[in-house]
Formats: sequence, structure tokens, C-alpha cells
Amino acid sequence: MNSVAPSLTSLWSLREDCGYRPVPGGPGAGVVSTPWEEIRLDPGTPAVARALERMTYGPVSLDNVLPGFTEGGGTAGDRAPYDALDAALGRLQHVVVRTLALAEGVHHLTVVPIARRARFRPGRPAADAVHRLSRFVTLRASAGGWVAESPLTAHRVVLHTPQAGWLVSCYARPTTVREAARLLGMPVAEAALTVGYLEAAGVLLPGKPLADGAGAPSFTEDEDEALAHWSPRELLVHQRSRPGSHDEPVGPAGRPGTGAGRPGPAGAAITLPVPPRGGADEGEPALSEVLAARRSERPDDGKPLSLDQLGELLHRSAAERPAGGRPYPSLGSRYPLELYLTVTGSGGLERGVYHYDPYGHLLFPLDPAPELVDDLLAEAAANAGLSQEPPVLITMTARFHRVAGSYAGTAYSALLKEVGALQQTLYLVATAMGLGPCALAFGDTETAAHAFGLDWRTEPGVGEFVVSASPGPAVEAVRR
Ligand SMILES: Cc1cc2nc3c(=O)[nH]c(=O)nc-3n(C[C@H](O)[C@H](O)[C@H](O)COP(=O)(O)O)c2cc1C
Repeated sequence: MNSVAPSLTSLWSLREDCGYRPVPGGPGAGVVSTPWEEIRLDPGTPAVARALERMTYGPVSLDNVLPGFTEGGGTAGDRAPYDALDAALGRLQHVVVRTLALAEGVHHLTVVPIARRARFRPGRPAADAVHRLSRFVTLRASAGGWVAESPLTAHRVVLHTPQAGWLVSCYARPTTVREAARLLGMPVAEAALTVGYLEAAGVLLPGKPLADGAGAPSFTEDEDEALAHWSPRELLVHQRSRPGSHDEPVGPAGRPGTGAGRPGPAGAAITLPVPPRGGADEGEPALSEVLAARRSERPDDGKPLSLDQLGELLHRSAAERPAGGRPYPSLGSRYPLELYLTVTGSGGLERGVYHYDPYGHLLFPLDPAPELVDDLLAEAAANAGLSQEPPVLITMTARFHRVAGSYAGTAYSALLKEVGALQQTLYLVATAMGLGPCALAFGDTETAAHAFGLDWRTEPGVGEFVVSASPGPAVEAVRR
């Protein structure tokens, strides 16, 4: 590693999706267009217009517009343009990108605001100041270098140089600016400048000073009750699947998805019986009765479903209607969910795995190794707390591309909501039929992929449900 770190320069730019145009009204009057709104700047000083125009071209030193601006320069006599530029940049904080560059102009790191609430006020921590990486920060590769981001920050940091990445890696554990500078062979002042940027961007957390100066430093984030139950992955998925606090696309994408399907079936299709139209006239319970009776049933002596029962359950819950649509809702009518049935055998079907075709109301037998069928049923039994195999396990998989191609950012969270909608539909139909239903929390990724002949990256398992033909007294109990 190079032991001599060159000095750093502060550069300023506007986000790439921002523009600036001067408007009539006097020197400095202009409009900055941002992804969120247009900001009108009142006339004042031409320096503001000069600075903003340059900032639309990419990172520039504002010291070239107003000498000494970065370090708060300007003598008492000519403070006005400095104050005016300061005020304008203050109003634009959520779209002002800050870059630290090495002396030869190479970009070292860049801090990009990603939310309207972004405020960036870098300081210069003392040599003995202790910091640590936030546990919510993730690093990923990009064309510009490492990208550090977190669901808790309003900035994205691009670590362009290896040195910037090395500095961040020093902070996997609490350390001081002095120690990080020593490890990297960097002047303390430069480490402090970089750490100040990373702290202001929320990537590094300042340690709370200890009253007596002894013991391990503590960090506010670790004591925040609101964060105690979130894993970094879950919080990031949650935050990025909804708009408002970041700049990634969420919503319609209009990119038709493509993706591989499952290999062909192993045997001839089994036509499932279509149930009669049903209704109160045929003695079916009312919706209010079904809703009142619905509960999770985990009978240890669950019986297999007959083909008629399976046909009715699947037709009323998941079959495509002749005019289109299904009993459960789907974002953009993309219907990414597929159903795979694993059955113990008897009751009309041989032991094995079947793929449901909601268009033809058909079951296609698959041909997994028998031990995979055993594994699927054993896992489901364990998850439901059963001492024997559940007669029917319904695994929901998602053809991710169907929804991801059309909805950016939110596809995964949307399909999980769809799992919930289908689970409740299965619960209600099963309850009305007097069957014993129970949702499960999860299934094993690899077992399902092997058993169904899938690549879990294109069609992962996303929901599990078990059902048995007994006990069935739930609705009757409510009626009595
Ligand atoms: C998403 C989800 C996952 C579930 N996972 C399981 C599970 O793994 N094992 C189980 O026995 N029950 C599971 N259940 C059923 C719940 O335990 C049950 O709904 C809850 O205890 C309330 O009881 P009720 O359904 O009878 O009203 C799950 C329910 C849902 C909605």
C-alpha cells in the first residue's frame, strides 16, 4: 500500500438529474430543477449563478468561483457573495453532491444525497475521536467503485479509490482517526477530513464519549430500541420497496420480464374436478360464518383430500376465471405465483409432487427423487408441529421476472403480499369446505428447488401451506 496519501480537495456538483437555468429578475436569479421539485433562487449575486452553472457540469472547486469558499473564507468587506452562495447551497442541500478529490484530480469519494431530507454538514473529528461502521451499511461494487449505503441514511457514498475503501474497512471495529491514519500511512488531517464526510453521510457512527474516559465506546444506534429487531437486510428490503426515503425507482417499470420456466412435466396431466357453482342454496356456510370459523388446524391424524376436494379447493382459491382474473388479487395482474402440491398419497393421487395449471385446472405430475418428497413433507410437519406428515403441502413459488419486469424495486415485497392474499383465500375456502388448513412460515430453499426442478433465483419458494381433510368441524361449531 502506498504510504504517502496526497492532500484532498473538496468539490461540489448538483445531482446528475438536476438542472439550473438563470431567469430574468436580476443577477443570481435562477431555477434549480430537482427530481422532487423546482427551487427558485432570488436575485442577489452573480457568484451564485456562476457556481450553480458550473456545478451542473460535474464536481468543481467553488474556490475557483469565490477564493477560500470551502474553508469559510471571505473578508469582512466582501462577505456578501460568500453568504449568498452559502445560503443558496443551504437550500439545495438535498441535491448537492460532495466529492473529495486527490491532488491530481482523481476522485477519492463522493457523497450523493438520495432523499429530500438529506442534510450534509461534514466536520473534522479530532485525532482521538472514535468511530465505527453502522451495522446497517452494506457495500456493493459499481462502475465507480464501492458503494456504501444504508436504509438509515439519506446519502449514498461512492468510494472511488482503494484508499477510501481501506479507510472504511478500518472501521469494522471502533477505532480512532489517528489509528486509521496510522494503518493506512495517511496524514491524520486527511483521515479526519474523510472520516468527517463518512460521519456526515451516516456511514460511520461517532462513539459516545465516556465520562471517565475508560471502557469500550458506545454508539447511539446500538441502544436505539426502534432498530433492535431489524436485521440490516430486512430493513433495507423494506425501505427500498417503498418510495419516499431514497432515489431508487419504485413502481411501474414497463420492462417486459423474461425468465426460464420449469422443465416439462413427467407424466400426463390430471384433470381436476370442477366444483358445482355452490352458494347458500346448496347449504354452503355464509361468508360471515366462514370468517368467524377460520383458524389454523394442525391435526396429527390429518386425512388425505379426495380428488374432488382438491379440485374444489384449488378451483375456488386459485383457478383462472373464464373471463380472466383469479380469486385472489395480483399487482398489475401479473400473477407470479405458481402452486406445487406435495402429497402423501392415497385420496386420489399417488405420493409425489404435482404442478398446478390454473388455466386448465390441471395437475402435472413431476418426478423428483423420493427422498425429496420425504424431505418436503418432513420439513412441513416440523414447521406445523405435527408428529406425522401433512397429507397435502401446497408450496407457492414466484416467477419473479413476471412482476419484476413491470415493477421496479417493489416486486419482491408485492409478491409476498400476494402470498398473504392467496393464503387467506385458501384458509377461507378450506374452512368453508370443512378442511384443516394451516399457513407455514417458510420452507427450505434448496429442497423445493430440487424437488420442483427449479432455479431458485428465477422461481424461488415464497409461501407454504398445509391442508388435511380432517377435522372439519370448524364451521359446524360456529353454527351450533
Ligand atoms: C405468514 C404465516 C406463517 C405461519 N407459519 C406457521 C408455521 O410455520 N407453523 C404453524 O404451525 N403455524 C403457522 N402459522 C399459523 C399461525 O400460527 C396462526 O395463524 C396463528 O397462531 C393464529 O391462529 P389462527 O390462524 O388459528 O387464528 C402461520 C401463519 C401465517 C399468517
